[in-house]
Amino acid sequence: MKKNTFEEYLISREKLELLRFITCGSVDDGKSTLIGRMLNDINSIRKDELEALRAISKKSGTQKGNIDYALLLDGLTSEQEQGITIDVAYKYFSTEKRKFIVADTPGHEEYTRNMVTGSSVADLAVILIDVNKGISKQTLRHTNVCNFMGIKKIILAVNKMDLINYDMNTFLNIEKHYLSICKNLKFEAIQTIPVSAINGENISSKSKNMSWYKGPSIIDHLEKINISQNIENQFFLPIQLVNRPTSNFRGFSGLIASGNINKNEEIFVLPSGSKAKVKSILIGDKVKNNASFNENITLTLNKEISVSRGDLILSNINDVYVANQFEANIVWLSKDTGYVGREYILKLSTQTTAANITFIKYELDIENNKKLASKKATINNFYVVNLKTIKTIWFKKFHQNKTLGSFLLIDQLSNETVAGGTINHNLTRSTNLVYQNFLINKETRRIKNKHKSKVFWLTGLSGSGKSTIANFFEQFLHQKGVNSYILDGDNIRQGLNNDLGFTDEDRIENIRRVGEVAKLFVDAGIVTIVSFISPFKKDREMARRLFSTDEFVEVYVNTSLEVCEKRDVKGLYQKARAGLIPNFTGINSKYDIPSNPEITIDTEKKNLEEIIDLLYNYIK
Ligand code: ADX
Repeated sequence: MKKNTFEEYLISREKLELLRFITCGSVDDGKSTLIGRMLNDINSIRKDELEALRAISKKSGTQKGNIDYALLLDGLTSEQEQGITIDVAYKYFSTEKRKFIVADTPGHEEYTRNMVTGSSVADLAVILIDVNKGISKQTLRHTNVCNFMGIKKIILAVNKMDLINYDMNTFLNIEKHYLSICKNLKFEAIQTIPVSAINGENISSKSKNMSWYKGPSIIDHLEKINISQNIENQFFLPIQLVNRPTSNFRGFSGLIASGNINKNEEIFVLPSGSKAKVKSILIGDKVKNNASFNENITLTLNKEISVSRGDLILSNINDVYVANQFEANIVWLSKDTGYVGREYILKLSTQTTAANITFIKYELDIENNKKLASKKATINNFYVVNLKTIKTIWFKKFHQNKTLGSFLLIDQLSNETVAGGTINHNLTRSTNLVYQNFLINKETRRIKNKHKSKVFWLTGLSGSGKSTIANFFEQFLHQKGVNSYILDGDNIRQGLNNDLGFTDEDRIENIRRVGEVAKLFVDAGIVTIVSFISPFKKDREMARRLFSTDEFVEVYVNTSLEVCEKRDVKGLYQKARAGLIPNFTGINSKYDIPSNPEITIDTEKKNLEEIIDLLYNYIK
């Protein structure tokens, strides 16, 4: 066997343009047959190259001795780290004209997740239907998901033509119907192709049985369709790693998300905005004069400037948004409901920050594209939302750049990916606000007050004794000359929060607002006692994150439901038991017991003096 063949082959392939596509449809529609056909019918790999690939596959052992086509694809692993790529079966193949990655998105229960994952990076979707079934609910769903996820090119593969004797009229009717459905969608190119996957007709070569069809075969179309507009010319390098093997080498590594770069070219770094020139470009350990889209590179710069993981190196500083609010399409993927105001982790390319949905504009009914009013996000549903990130981030509109315009939302506690999203545009409100720093600040106020300011966050069931403790503690502080204030749930709900009720989403907003208010009070130099049931752990954690570690004291007022109910000072438990109050905490709305509070107060065992002592310890 010629030793260099495989390497030569890889190099020749590297020059080929890459097209990514997804296939939608179910096994019944013939999807696996179609994919199998596509892979088998392509004989573009020369025999000796195939042998080389087989030998290497055997060595790597990834496919139990069979050919691992994945080996044909460089850089995929790091790419997977960057974008929205979770749990999708990818297949790789190439022809003489192009190389392809196909994300196979199965038709089972998890398909929304997989479709979203696959389509967030796809240039094109092959939507497969069974000619006997015609355009089904599932076809509409697939089509609308593709539209929602920003796919611009569609192949509607009308399969099993052999079963209807290759009847032209049936095909034309389906085509007409499909095009009318897509009239109001944002697709740029739709090609309908009559196929018989099982007989290999119109897959890689034109069918003799359907000479009435004048269009391309699937492979033909995949090879020729123009995708060049997907590759922008501006250079973007999201930094994945700062490489410092020795003290005199500092390289910045990542996968080029668009454009190309030359040695000595001027670049900028975001978010800092610093400027430098490219001193050297490395691909692996090879020094290069230039590099382009989809290559994994390491850059060194001519100046010592600060660059960290999550920064962006780019050629034109005005080319991306640097902001903290944007409108996005999201697909909710978690069984846990998503709420406005709740904090999630947002991952966009190499950046990570806390973020929350500030507004759900509407839910999209994916079967008929109707807009529905919605206050929360539930599994497998599609929403247009406004999002706010805690840190300012860089991003692009998704249709301009898939990598820089798509993101994931991750649950803070469980680490589960709860949503995938694509950015529509930034919200100008976020770029036009600048945080004002004043000369009289938290520190100067603390010095004047002669005490620190912090928040005591009292959480517990209704009637657990929070207000009583707050009241007693404040009197004590008052006597000690400490400036203090109580933010009490019942009181705040009659003013600032009088638009909120007791549904989960309203309680989340209730806590978000009081957290922000408490932050202002602590900034004002005041010892702030928050007395809210604050039943959800996630939201208490969100409030905690607004403060520095020594500023937030979570106090769990631990009184059992039985005791609270027995006391029933306000008579609310009795009403709740009688079914007169929906969503009453402890009865028909949950309370998450704090897992790691600074203080736990067992009110059934401790008297008020002892409790005050415990609290005051955190101020002394
Ligand atoms: S929280 O859950 O959103 O933090 P918050 O502390 O503001 O609640 O308000 C709780 C108070 O509202 C209770 O002390 C009680 O007086 C009153 N209340 C009225 N309806 C409910 C309800 N469904 N669940 C709990 N408290 C209620």
